[in-house]
Amino acid sequence: MRRVLITAGASGIGREMARAFAAEGALVFVVDLDAKGLSALAQEIPGVQTAICDMSRRADIERMVPAAVAALGGLDVLVNNAGIAGPTAPVEETDPDAWDQVLQVNLSGTFHVTRLAIPHLKKSPAGSIIVLSSVAGRFGYPNRCAYAATKWGLIGFTKTLARELGPFGIRANAIAPGAVEGPRIDRVFEGRAERSGRTPEEEKQAHLGLQSLPRLVDPRDIAALAVFLASDAGKSISGQVLPIDNDTQQAS
Ligand SMILES: NC(=O)c1ccc[n+]([C@@H]2O[C@H](COP(=O)([O-])OP(=O)(O)OC[C@H]3O[C@@H](n4cnc5c(N)ncnc54)[C@H](O)[C@@H]3O)[C@@H](O)[C@H]2O)c1
Repeated sequence: MRRVLITAGASGIGREMARAFAAEGALVFVVDLDAKGLSALAQEIPGVQTAICDMSRRADIERMVPAAVAALGGLDVLVNNAGIAGPTAPVEETDPDAWDQVLQVNLSGTFHVTRLAIPHLKKSPAGSIIVLSSVAGRFGYPNRCAYAATKWGLIGFTKTLARELGPFGIRANAIAPGAVEGPRIDRVFEGRAERSGRTPEEEKQAHLGLQSLPRLVDPRDIAALAVFLASDAGKSISGQVLPIDNDTQQAS
């Protein structure tokens, strides 16, 4: 039975991943800031274990990882899902404190969880690390400099993990979703609309115009990709970035 730790999994993509791994028979531990969301998840998925952890706080992470590994009885799969969107503003107007906060959660949080998880993954017969990057880690992303910088940074981190940990049988891959159905992308379109003077719906249509498949990504498909990557069928895949974005192209 695979033992899986998912960060920021009380809602959105992480919650779908918790559902999908549990449905495969995995033992799942989910951490998040949102206590209510975690208890709703624990009620919905029998056997899922949860803990509150603020991914911007190193001390929280240093307490959480050993506790999660003890509760799971080891660790086979780490899903670094935590990632905040940060401000919508051009670089020169971006609040430096907001920049720091995005780096703290998206990059440093991922680093801290991963560094503490590696000794446990080394004991697994099939260790796997999955990192949530983004289409913003493949293209320039106007008005989202902190987010894009972290999502590109996470790809460098993932590729480095793959090279370092391959000799220990541990694989590391990044998933790069495009615009995913849910409240978060609605907030992104609202943020763009505030700057552009267009409506959120116009922003959404403009975004869909960059895709060959003009629809939002189903978060269940991202969860299915994560389950595949962590499975035996994914055993030859490491160091890769897997876009799941309805074929999004850079805006010209
Ligand atoms: N939704 C999208 O369109 C999209 C697209 C590309 C990439 N992604 C990436 O996928 C991942 C998940 O995105 P999502 O849209 O499901 O996220 P989301 O905005 O729905 O949030 C997921 C969870 O993160 C938790 N969270 C926020 N700050 C936290 C913190 N400091 N510590 C612990 N938990 C915290 C929230 O409580 C929430 O339950 C992120 O890394 C995101 O960047 C999302």
